[in-house]
Amino acid sequence: MVKVLFVCLGNICRSPSAEGVFRDLVAKKGLAGQILTDSAGTGSWHVGSPPDERAQKAALERGIDLSDLRGRQVKPKDFITFDYVLAMDRSNYANLQQIAPSGYEDRLHMFLSFDPKSPEEEVPDPYYGGPSGFDYVLDLIEEASKGLLRDIETGYLGKSPD
Ligand code: 4NP
Repeated sequence: MVKVLFVCLGNICRSPSAEGVFRDLVAKKGLAGQILTDSAGTGSWHVGSPPDERAQKAALERGIDLSDLRGRQVKPKDFITFDYVLAMDRSNYANLQQIAPSGYEDRLHMFLSFDPKSPEEEVPDPYYGGPSGFDYVLDLIEEASKGLLRDIETGYLGKSPD
């Protein structure tokens, strides 16, 4: 089982959106039995909360249901459990670097680094903006998810690069 953890600040907007989009892609490719997904926040304000209503609505418009997801806070042990720990922005990355147990730092990546054509390096936080911010977040996430899946397929699942 390859394990993937998406991390943002609150775990109610960006990282659950990424988890929902990526798990949908994984399921459509018939890989749900081989790739486990989860998400977490560096902050603890939204532990136990469902994703932000605006994130749920924007995702549902693309056929992706986030309603079962609940917030949790990331912990150092996540670096031992998960093969990929994916930061949405530089601040998340810096916070994660600080809690990564020694020897596990190479599991940490910027999520958008899996889309070499991405117009952004960071997934912008849509929390304080309008609905279009949530749509843009999903656009960025969809493209990076494809690249991430390719990385897993070639690195872990024995598929040759094309
Ligand atoms: P997220 O967005 O990190 O994409 O989940 C945020 C959600 C809540 C807060 C900040 C960012 N907050 O400060 O409560």
